[in-house]
Amino acid sequence: MLPQITGYTFTAICPVGMALAPRKREIHTDMIQTHALTRSYVTDEIETAALKNVSLEIEKGEFVAIMGPSGCGKTTLLNLLGLIDRPSSGSYDFSGILTEGLSENKMTRLRRGNMGFIFQNYNLVEELNVTENVELPLIFTGMHRKERRKRVQEILDRLKISHRATHYPRQLSGGQQQRVAFARSIVNRPMLLLADEPTGNLDSRNGALLLDLLNEYNRTGGTIVMVTHSLKDASYAHRILRLRDGIILN
Ligand SMILES: Nc1ncnc2c1ncn2[C@@H]1O[C@H](COP(=O)(O)OP(=O)(O)O)[C@@H](O)[C@H]1O
Ligand SMILES: [Mg+2]
Repeated sequence: MLPQITGYTFTAICPVGMALAPRKREIHTDMIQTHALTRSYVTDEIETAALKNVSLEIEKGEFVAIMGPSGCGKTTLLNLLGLIDRPSSGSYDFSGILTEGLSENKMTRLRRGNMGFIFQNYNLVEELNVTENVELPLIFTGMHRKERRKRVQEILDRLKISHRATHYPRQLSGGQQQRVAFARSIVNRPMLLLADEPTGNLDSRNGALLLDLLNEYNRTGGTIVMVTHSLKDASYAHRILRLRDGIILN
């Protein structure tokens, strides 16, 4: 059974008393609803059907793992759910909003306002230090600089990486870089976190530390869709979706 989610307050990630009123949003039971989602890539006249007729529902507050062999369409699916890419056919409702007809601009705003991403290779900006990397998503929201820096400081403190605030990604270990990437992904307090093999480059200790952070984000109301090859990582999720050749098996 999933816990009853009544709002997303982020109390565990950000201690109470930091002006963290729950964001006022309509609560929909289904955060994600796709119908016959299909994505084909055409290159040199060869068509690859990366995803075929995927219909799924993910509730607010769920932690879902996606598993399957390399090339089965996991990243393609995550990119569609994350509004980074558009399907060839089929529909996708995010939090009650039909995304099909949305302009690029609206899609970007929906993504930036509601979603966070983490990737296997951390994807930090090499030219920016830790503070600046974590601050990036807040710049897009138009938040005032002073408030941004306060918010970043809170997250860095919470994740125990404040002492690295002025360091650059190349000066950090993989585990530390992924911790910074996680901080960046949640600094906006997104309702959905999309993670593509987030522990793929981490040793088991750092992998477990990251899973603890994801778990905490989920327990405080955040929804997670995580691609993983590890059954141990998937055991943190409420359920596992298995993909084969672009098709959901279960
Ligand atoms: N941009 C692209 N252009 C052409 N083919 C692609 C592209 N992205 C992915 N594919 C193909 O789509 C299939 C699914 O890829 P992907 O979603 O990356 O799989 P996974 O993440 O499960 O390894 C693969 O056959 C891959 O080669
Ligand atoms: Mg992939």
